[in-house]
Amino acid sequence: MKLFVDTGDVEEVRQAAEWGVLDGVTTNPTLIAKSGKGFRETVLKICELVPDGDVSAEVVATEYDAMLKEAKEISSWHERIVVKVPLIEPGVRLVKALTDQGIRTNATLVFSVPQALLAAKAGATYISNFVGRVDDISGDGMAAVADTVAMIHHYGFESQVLVASIRHPLHVVHALESGADVGTMPFKVMQMLFKHPLTDSGLKRFLDDWHAAGLSIFERTRAGR
Ligand code: E4P
Repeated sequence: MKLFVDTGDVEEVRQAAEWGVLDGVTTNPTLIAKSGKGFRETVLKICELVPDGDVSAEVVATEYDAMLKEAKEISSWHERIVVKVPLIEPGVRLVKALTDQGIRTNATLVFSVPQALLAAKAGATYISNFVGRVDDISGDGMAAVADTVAMIHHYGFESQVLVASIRHPLHVVHALESGADVGTMPFKVMQMLFKHPLTDSGLKRFLDDWHAAGLSIFERTRAGR
C-alpha cells in the first residue's frame, strides 16, 4: 500500500519525504487555506519535495464549466499533479472528461460504494474513500472501503482505492487488511506509525548496556583498555 501524507504544510512534506517511504501527497482546500500560502506555490513546492510522487490538488468550483477551467489550470502547473474532484454530478462528468483528455483525477468526498462505482466508471485514477468522518458520526467508515476494493477487483476497474480521512494507526492497519492501494494521513499519524513502547524500552536497554561496557564502534579495543 502506498503511503501519502495529507497536508498543505510543506515542512511536513519535507520531513516525511526525508524518511524515504513517502509515495505521494494529498491536499484539500481546508489544508491549503491552513497553510497560509498560495495554492500554486504550495503545490509546486510539494511536487519538488516529492520527486516521484503524485500530488493531489482540488478544484473549488461546483459548476461544470468553472470546474473544468480550474482543473485545466491546476493540471497545467505540473505533470505529477492529480486533479481532485468532489463526487457531485458535475464532478463525475468532469472526471470522465478529464480522463478522456489524459488528465489524472482523484474523486474525493467518497463515502459509499455507489459513489465509488460512479467514480470508477468515469475513470478516476484514485477514489478517495473517507473513513474518519464516518467513524466520527458512529458509522463504520472502513466497511465502504473494503466493499469498494472488492467491487474494483471484481469488475476489473483501474481506479486505485485511496483510504482518506485516516485518524490513527489502526485505520492504517484496517486499510492494509482491506487491500486498499493507498492510505493518506496527517503527518502526525505518519509519525505515530513509528511508535511502539517496546521499541523505546528495547533501544534504551541496548544503549545502556553498550555504554556501560565502554564499547565503541570506531575503536579496535574497548575504550580505556
Ligand atoms: C483526503 O484527501 C482528505 O484531504 C483528507 O483525508 C480529509 O481528512 P479529514 O477528514 O481528517 O479532514
